[in-house]
Amino acid sequence: MTDKLVVKNLFKVFGPDPDQAVELAKQGVAKDEIYRQTESVVAVNDVSLSVKERELFVVMGLSGSGKSTLIRCFNRLIDPTSGEILIDGESLTNAGEEELRQLRKNKMSMVFQHFALFPHKTVCENAEYGLKVRGISRRERREKAMAALEAVGLDAWADAYPDNLSGGMQQRVGLARGLAVDPEVLLMDEPFSALDPLIRREMQDELAGIQEKYKTTIIFITHDLHEALKLGDHIAIMKDGRFVQVGPPEEIVTAPADDYVSAFTHDVDRGRVLRAESVMEAPVTLQAGKDTASSALARMDEAGQDCLYVVDEKGQPAGYIRRAMLADLSGDTKITDVMESSYPRTDPDRLLFELYEQCAEGVPVAVQSEDGKFLGVVQPSQVFTELVSDETATESQDKAPAGAAQ
Ligand SMILES: Nc1ncnc2c1ncn2[C@@H]1O[C@H](COP(=O)(O)OP(=O)(O)O)[C@@H](O)[C@H]1O
Ligand SMILES: [Mg+2]
Repeated sequence: MTDKLVVKNLFKVFGPDPDQAVELAKQGVAKDEIYRQTESVVAVNDVSLSVKERELFVVMGLSGSGKSTLIRCFNRLIDPTSGEILIDGESLTNAGEEELRQLRKNKMSMVFQHFALFPHKTVCENAEYGLKVRGISRRERREKAMAALEAVGLDAWADAYPDNLSGGMQQRVGLARGLAVDPEVLLMDEPFSALDPLIRREMQDELAGIQEKYKTTIIFITHDLHEALKLGDHIAIMKDGRFVQVGPPEEIVTAPADDYVSAFTHDVDRGRVLRAESVMEAPVTLQAGKDTASSALARMDEAGQDCLYVVDEKGQPAGYIRRAMLADLSGDTKITDVMESSYPRTDPDRLLFELYEQCAEGVPVAVQSEDGKFLGVVQPSQVFTELVSDETATESQDKAPAGAAQ
């Protein structure tokens, strides 16, 4: 996949003396001290990143860490003080007015935390807004807005007015407005932060599907680590204008770059970050129609496992056999006569903690794609190990003396 958005050494300073402030920042002087000396705020401090096409890149940081300033530089709502921004390899920092207009029109849209809808326009007219600004014909506008409303589950409300919608639904209209223009890059600045927890979780769950449908690259901002871990392909942790770590969720949790990041992540439940596909292994299998009790036993001994899946001629699971089920059988018993055909299964995206109950019987969980393809198995022992190691990690953190380094 090619790079969609590349940012190199970006700085944004607010205040009277940006050049001096950047100079001090480059020397490693702290944000507060720079403000004391120059009365200028270094909001974005030497940020570099690259986001691949169709990636969901999350920037996570506390309030005031510079997230909004950074994302506003991407569509030049804010002019960076120095550094470079490239979209599809083309410089955005040198773009003139007309180029910028084209860029905002054709490539990017933005969704905010508080999305102001027009109260006297219908839901559909609100969703059409970005298209109207772009001079798209009425018919095409309606078509695209309706598709976007459908994507966010609001097509039935197209002719209603915002007043009749809940806060969560209004936020969905905001998202539909952003999507209707079919942006190559969607900038989302804490779009779910103002929502009730349940609605918020619903929106989080739906976002991946929406992104898939619109094949868009998303830069998503949040102050919530759990939201970041749930949504991000890559996550940047931002502090005082800087990126302190960039990596996939698993890495942020298992290998925090410094004390700041580990303070955030130490109480994160690894079972809620690691997914079935990241811990599954290739299954040792038995063939339906071929294997017998004796060949099954031999295979178990060879693999050092007590439970194996039986697959049909297409390679899809038909059931499983445990060692105990083979006792007292004559060796030539067909495996399909004695196998258990209802088996625990999961899709590859499922988080480990969700597999806990399915693991209770000790049978490996079959990981299958949507179309039934057998991708691998998750061993119950692995699920239990992750969940337990998580507890011990938390315990040892608790036992460390207060203020101890690391
Ligand atoms: N227009 C502005 N003028 C001066 N300072 C600003 C302005 N906008 C933001 N800041 C400062 O820049 C820093 C980053 O702010 P912001 O990007 O809004 O952070 P976040 O979105 O992470 O909460 C903060 O210290 C904030 O006070
Ligand atoms: Mg902000």
